[in-house]
Amino acid sequence: MPGRPFLQIPGPALVPERVVRAMSQSLIDHRGPEFAGLLKEVLKGLKNVFQTSDGEIVLYPGSGTGAWEACLVNTLSPGDHVLGCVNGHFSARFCQTASAHGIQVRMLEVPYGVGIPADLVEEHLRTDKNHQIKAVLALHSETSTGVTTNIAGIREAMDRAGHPALFLVDVVSSLASIDFRFDEWKVDVALTGPQKGLMLPPGMAILAISRKALKASQSAKCPRFFWDWAPVLERNARGEFPYTPATALLFGLKESLAMLAEEGLPNVFRRHNRMAEACRRAVLAMGLKLLVKNPDECSNTLTAVCMPDGFDSDAYIAHAHRHLEISLGPGLGKVKGKIFRIGHLGSFNELELLGALAGVEMTLKSFGVNIPLGAGLAAAESYLLHSASNTGQGL
Ligand SMILES: Cc1ncc(COP(=O)(O)O)c(C=O)c1O
Repeated sequence: MPGRPFLQIPGPALVPERVVRAMSQSLIDHRGPEFAGLLKEVLKGLKNVFQTSDGEIVLYPGSGTGAWEACLVNTLSPGDHVLGCVNGHFSARFCQTASAHGIQVRMLEVPYGVGIPADLVEEHLRTDKNHQIKAVLALHSETSTGVTTNIAGIREAMDRAGHPALFLVDVVSSLASIDFRFDEWKVDVALTGPQKGLMLPPGMAILAISRKALKASQSAKCPRFFWDWAPVLERNARGEFPYTPATALLFGLKESLAMLAEEGLPNVFRRHNRMAEACRRAVLAMGLKLLVKNPDECSNTLTAVCMPDGFDSDAYIAHAHRHLEISLGPGLGKVKGKIFRIGHLGSFNELELLGALAGVEMTLKSFGVNIPLGAGLAAAESYLLHSASNTGQGL
């Protein structure tokens, strides 16, 4: 099909031209001085994005799944207990990664579409009088449901319970899109991949690490070699890695961090909020339901839409792709076949959102769903027209 495909899954998203161009330059020696300069700049930029001055950054070739593993094996030992907050497919897999390493996961499970209530975390931690629980595992944005959890609220709950557990937070679909404050919220490890708010192709695992987590890693007994962050930190200090790094991705990351700095993080967060709100209004105006019921818990990087009764969302997604080459995220885990997800993250603007929404409306209609054609688009347009863009002027 001519024109660009609409990759409207919640990451990877379209990679901006500036980043593509930055990645297409010739490779450099990963043990040379030019590389040391590149690494220094990237680590500094990532600190800004994680909003940390105190934390250390470690990155590996890998993916978000690798980042879970890196986070767990560096901080915990087989037999340790953790509190695993589960509200969807990815939070369940974070816990499965822990179980695979012999870590005992005590599940705090809530239904799909709901954030993790901080008071439940507090309750669980208060019953753990001997402080057997070594870490709390949570996702800032559960990508399978489009729900955000109040991470600051969970931190406060942990403090109220007076519990010393480490706080390990997945920010894969929130970092660089939704306000996340590593230092202020006293997170011990925050982990992500590059393919969402950081606007890169997949291929990295990125962690921010607190002093407390660094200390824990000195006695953590999970076997590790590739994921061991100690040699990475040691060699990074000399401007290199203990293995061959993903140099082309680092070129891209330097560029995407520059783009984020130019826009300014508060503006990046506002833009994501505005696109997400326009999308949610459009979905409701189509007469469809959002999976997330509490508006305060809607993720600003994606919207999970309930498929009307009698329609299978997997079949709809295939239909939409066949006819307009628009890619939508499927329902995962317990909501397979029941929802579809619209991604609106990274380098993304008003007209791209409207194009995606038009594609959703047309393909729903041609799939046989009885929606009023144009109602969703009109709702989104009206919201975008009247809400202030980052220039502060509306349209
Ligand atoms: C919140 C979250 N965590 C972890 C992952 C796993 O990342 P990856 O697929 O890069 O391994 C994903 C993937 O989309 C995710 O959305």
